[in-house]
Amino acid sequence: MRKPSTILVTGGAGFIGSHTCVELLDHGYELIVIDDYSNSTPQVFTRVERITDRFVGAVYELDIRDRRALSAVFDRHSVDAVVHFAAHKAVGESTRMPIKYYDNNVGGTTALLRVMQEHAVHQLVFSSSCSIYGDAGRGPLDESTPAAPTNPYASSKWLCELLLADVCARCPEFTVLALRYFNPVGAHPSGLLGEDPGGVPDNLMPYVAQVAVGRRERLPVFGQDYATPDGTAVRDYLHVMDTAEAHRVALDHLADRPGMQIFNLGVGAGRSVLDVISAFAAACGRAVPYQILPRRPGDVTELVADAGAVARAWGWRPTRDLADMCRDAWRFQQLNPHGYAGSGRHPNGTRHDP
Ligand code: NAD
Ligand code: WQD
Repeated sequence: MRKPSTILVTGGAGFIGSHTCVELLDHGYELIVIDDYSNSTPQVFTRVERITDRFVGAVYELDIRDRRALSAVFDRHSVDAVVHFAAHKAVGESTRMPIKYYDNNVGGTTALLRVMQEHAVHQLVFSSSCSIYGDAGRGPLDESTPAAPTNPYASSKWLCELLLADVCARCPEFTVLALRYFNPVGAHPSGLLGEDPGGVPDNLMPYVAQVAVGRRERLPVFGQDYATPDGTAVRDYLHVMDTAEAHRVALDHLADRPGMQIFNLGVGAGRSVLDVISAFAAACGRAVPYQILPRRPGDVTELVADAGAVARAWGWRPTRDLADMCRDAWRFQQLNPHGYAGSGRHPNGTRHDP
């Protein structure tokens, strides 16, 4: 199998997808990007082009469940491999709207696989999640930890992993790398790309950033009665640029071995909510007001990666620490206090052809 050079990226306008587009363009890949903008804006591509000084490539506004439209993209371009980010990711919403999550995340993945197979494209990098481990307990978790998802979002990711493993077992032409991200945060160091959640942020880092910039009064800290050193919950925060780099390295290794492989992507270090608040305060030079509230339903005490497998397999390790994550998230927040809203539209609209 030759090394892929033309990559189709689903969900490429999103948080991790847009940073990965930068990383891949910077390394000479040709891209075809698909997004339905259900949780993003095409304005990110103007910024990707400013950072990379390259044309993003062909960008299509479509829902990957629309197999006819997806197939037309594959008809038009010669795709070597797919990096598949497109999914809904809000845990809380998934508990209220489980069918929306199974439909988009599992249905989107099966539609993509059908079209890939019809076009003899067999190499896939899949976005999985540490959330499939559920409340697996204390200490670093390796990839053999049994899956125990506790919400429909996490279940949808686990179902995708199961179906991808089965496809690889039965169709030996397929090669899949499933990457289980822990908590990707931060932003591109230019401050041009970052995390821009609509409405009230669900996730910690964007909420802290919005408090620091004065958009919100104080951070709700969900629980200080966990069995952790300072009582707040512990996670493994990973810089989004390290996450993006891991995808580029994954593409280098797609051809190593047929079948499906699964890797955790994390730093391997647990940081508490109060650690993040302190690190962010140091990065922005001001206090981040917070208020201790009861635990958030469904939250677990600790989720930390054993990130050894990916280091052994590819020699890949994250290089950025929590201070870097906070510094870059703060720069993005300062330069874009209201996120991408108000920035200019892409000169070519939402779709541009090669
Ligand atoms: P995101 O919401 O910023 O990006 C996902 C993108 O996919 C968005 O641009 C959205 O518009 C698009 N999309 C959704 N459904 C689509 C569809 N049917 N067709 C076309 N486009 C569609 O999320 P993100 O944080 O960048 O996450 C990327 C992937 O990584 C997701 O699969 C997510 O489940 C997974 N993941 C994220 C995290 C995290 O903490 N951010 C952690 C683990 C796994
Ligand atoms: C981190 C910690 C909160 C917000 C989520 C998904 C998971 C994966 C990664 C996709 C927790 C606390 C948060 C706030 C807080 N995503 N917190 N105040 O919950 O670890 O994981 O993102 O796959 O599936 O569940 O991330 O950033 O929401 O929370 O105190 O306003 O911060 O309780 O302990 P989480 P998070």
